[in-house]
Amino acid sequence: MRVLVTGGAGFIGSHTLVELLGQGHHCCVVDSFATSSPEALARVRELTNAPLDAHEADIRDTARLTGIAEEFRPEAVIHFAGLKAVGESAERPVDYYEVNVGGTLSLIRAMEAAGCGRVIFSSSATVYGDPEYLPFDEAHPLKPINVYGQTKAMAERVLSDWAGAAPGRGAVLLRYFNPVGAHASGRIGEDPAGIPSNLMPFLAQVASGERERLSIFGDDYDTPDGTGVRDYIHVVDLARAHVAALGRVAALEGAEPINVGTGRGYSVKEMHAAFSKVVGRELPYEIAPRRAGDIATSVADPSRARERLGWEAAHGIEDMAKSIWAWQSANPRGYRG
Ligand code: UFG
Repeated sequence: MRVLVTGGAGFIGSHTLVELLGQGHHCCVVDSFATSSPEALARVRELTNAPLDAHEADIRDTARLTGIAEEFRPEAVIHFAGLKAVGESAERPVDYYEVNVGGTLSLIRAMEAAGCGRVIFSSSATVYGDPEYLPFDEAHPLKPINVYGQTKAMAERVLSDWAGAAPGRGAVLLRYFNPVGAHASGRIGEDPAGIPSNLMPFLAQVASGERERLSIFGDDYDTPDGTGVRDYIHVVDLARAHVAALGRVAALEGAEPINVGTGRGYSVKEMHAAFSKVVGRELPYEIAPRRAGDIATSVADPSRARERLGWEAAHGIEDMAKSIWAWQSANPRGYRG
């Protein structure tokens, strides 16, 4: 298929490109490189030996996006481009609404101009907010508790209304749980700017000596060991879920939210232990106060992904830890190295 990929140079985008190109799909990337690096695309080309078109463009630039879409004529779009830092979203809410919601509107206009009615959207389990029950299934109410989550829920709404308004339109809304890991080659991986706010990139930098110790945000949660429990999903599994979703979206009418997780949760302490084992030494940590806005447990009910996409996660936490370490030890300063 001809697939337009927005935000293709990012963490999940780059891993998805490797899987798409490996399956023989023809891809065109649009990325502003505001929070990503062109080097990621160079490495995708190196890993796949496949041709890959790329354009430096802002998702909000509708005229530019339309020109690119009209020329490429995508059969489907995978929409990753967006801002994703929960803390930052509280400080810069308008930027988040502009890029994540406005960017989605802009993309839809470009798709309409190019006659494309098929989209896979990079959403997040954060749209659910505080759990009313666990595991989260797709029918769980959407009550996001941060600006970032609000923008994802709004973009889902926009895409659902658009997809439902005319025949020939489909939108698969992939709600990611906690993506971690890297390509097994260690050539591409997660490259956060500044101090990582997520657990595994932070731990990786402790292991490579960039940071002194991990702060575990709270050990008094109502979980087996008191630390937060999350459904970590290997980024290569997540990438393959997008390839599976391409098959689904081709004939879909309307919108369909689908959780992408494993259904199994691990605590911060379990992730710390798994990563320490791979690195070969106990990584230093301290117990710190709870982080505002964190919930005790987030775990997916992944049964819809199995039914509708024929997809399920194949990689466990050992693979996650090993691949992060392969990436981090070879690229301690990410793509800037
Ligand atoms: N944690 C620490 N120390 C750190 C970082 C995190 O103890 O330095 C803990 C958190 O308190 C939490 C767990 O590790 O219990 C995971 O935290 P992350 O920041 O890695 O991930 P979150 O679950 O907070 O959020 C992630 C993504 C969001 C997404 C959400 C979906 O960052 O974009 O998952 O559930 F929306």
